[in-house]
Parts: sequence; C-alpha cells; structure tokens
Amino acid sequence: MEILYLGNELLRQKALPVKPINREYEKIAEEMIEIMHLGKGVGLAGPQVGLMKRIFVVHIERDEPRVFINPTIIGTSQEQESYEEGCLSVPGVWEDVIRPRKVQVQAWNEKGRPFTLEADSILARVIQHEYDHLEGILFIDRLSEIQRNKALAKWEKRRRA
Ligand code: NI
Repeated sequence: MEILYLGNELLRQKALPVKPINREYEKIAEEMIEIMHLGKGVGLAGPQVGLMKRIFVVHIERDEPRVFINPTIIGTSQEQESYEEGCLSVPGVWEDVIRPRKVQVQAWNEKGRPFTLEADSILARVIQHEYDHLEGILFIDRLSEIQRNKALAKWEKRRRA
C-alpha cells in the first residue's frame, strides 16, 4: 500500500461497499493503521491507498485506533465548527474547514461487528473527512474559493520543491 496524492484520479472516485467483510479486512485495516501512523495522520481512507472500498481508519489522541467499514452518516448536528484540517494525500496543506460539530455514524468494524457511534469535536471531524474520501471528495473541495486557491498554490509550490 502506498499513499496516493492530489491529482491521482482514484482519489476522485466513489469507493464500493465491502462485501463480504471477511478476515482479509482485519489485515487490511492493520496495514492502513500502520500507514496512517507512519504518515503521522489521524485518519486514512481506502481510496488514499488505491483501495476503492468503503473502509477508513481513524486514530486521534487519547483514543484507540478505530476501523469503519461500510459507514453511513446517520445524523449530523445543526451546530457547525471551524477547524484546521490536513490530509495525507495533500501533504503540507492546512486550512480551516467548517463542518457539523457532531456526527452519528453506523458502520462495521474489522471483525465484521456492527456499531453505532456518536462523535463530536475532533473525532467527528476526522470521521467526516474520511467519509468524504469514500465519496471522492477532498477537504479542499469544502473550502471557499479564496482558501482553495491559496491551498492549491501551496500544494503546487511544495510539489515543485
Ligand atoms: Ni484526507
């Protein structure tokens, strides 16, 4: 597995449901968590490593790594929050993104067990960011035009360096 970067078409495609959730996914989740840790990221989605399946992993501070397979966002709060986001597929770029502060998600873990989770703050943010990856959406898509141009200029400069 290798991280794909902005410009790679796979990052713009919709990921497919995992069916069935078999033992293979324990191994895949483990590998994804390792890559996320190596990159010092707090989340990583299948498409970011060229795996076009609906799976992502999240590991925020003071929490365990979490695996989400075939997730559904079943609710979001009216209340929104702005927070700085980055992405392992767009290294070096950080911008404030506005998102709902809380999210309710239903998914299966790497053992194929279903769960429902109510998350807020950073966990909710990372879940929404990673969920977007499954839809081919990147955080830069959620920026204002001015912010996005600034982010893309930073990205271009960094890529040429
Ligand atoms: Ni990302």
